[in-house]
Amino acid sequence: MDTSRGRMTRDGIRLYEDGDFAGMHAAGRMAAQILDEMADLVVPGKTTAEIDQVITDRVEELGAKSATIGYKGYKHASCISVNHVVCHGVPGSKVLKDGDILNIDVTVIVDGWFGDTSRMYVAGKLPRKAERLIQVTHDALMKGIEAVKPGNTFGDIGHAIQTYVEGNRMSVVRDFCGHGLGRVFHAPPNVLHYGRSGTGPVLEEGMFFTIEPMVNLGRPETKVLGDDWTAVTRDKSLSAQFEHSVGVTADGFDIFTLSPADKFHPTYK
Ligand code: MF3
Ligand code: CO
Ligand code: CO
Repeated sequence: MDTSRGRMTRDGIRLYEDGDFAGMHAAGRMAAQILDEMADLVVPGKTTAEIDQVITDRVEELGAKSATIGYKGYKHASCISVNHVVCHGVPGSKVLKDGDILNIDVTVIVDGWFGDTSRMYVAGKLPRKAERLIQVTHDALMKGIEAVKPGNTFGDIGHAIQTYVEGNRMSVVRDFCGHGLGRVFHAPPNVLHYGRSGTGPVLEEGMFFTIEPMVNLGRPETKVLGDDWTAVTRDKSLSAQFEHSVGVTADGFDIFTLSPADKFHPTYK
């Protein structure tokens, strides 16, 4: 819960000040830089625990804090979600093999500001159907971001994402959503990746939140495994996700988690 003072909307959405954008940029850039550095590490034979250990070390070396270590009992600096894992994949002994696709999700805290971003990677050679899934998921996120401007609603964001994904005969996961963030990790509102135009809270300058659509090749339903974290597609179909942290400006959006090395989209573009 965000107990700090400051302006709030009637929906309990915090409105940050002009000067707060700089803090979010610093945090977002660091999270994105760490993800940039993982690109060369994602190769067949590597375990997800090995990748997570590098992320843990980099967060410390860069003088930041992991937002996920200790969060609701979670013990790792990243979530690594391979193939049919939708989100919250727990790093461990799983060995990556040729053709695996994976999302790595990192959230850091820099001077009290949260930077939360995730993107897709491929180990070895990218299978054709996975390439299409990744492209559609990436483009769906960008269509959602393009709907971010004062006067639009959160329903407009969800609608842009859903119509694009379903137009490509894929499905949007309903069981997880984006979230407000800033000086806290998860704050109002829930940012749904589906919905109807003109519904939901109206976007206002100074709102900070994530957009992080999960897209499945098959059905949208998910289930959480016995570790209480790992969410998978019920039909075992492949799933992909991209996440940016963004702010609403006077006339549009500001992306806090842009990749410094321009590696957000995997290089097979
Ligand atoms: N970074 C995730 C998000 O996008 C949250 C991960 S919480 C964890 O909101 F505990 F699973 F790490
Ligand atoms: Co998030
Ligand atoms: Co995240």
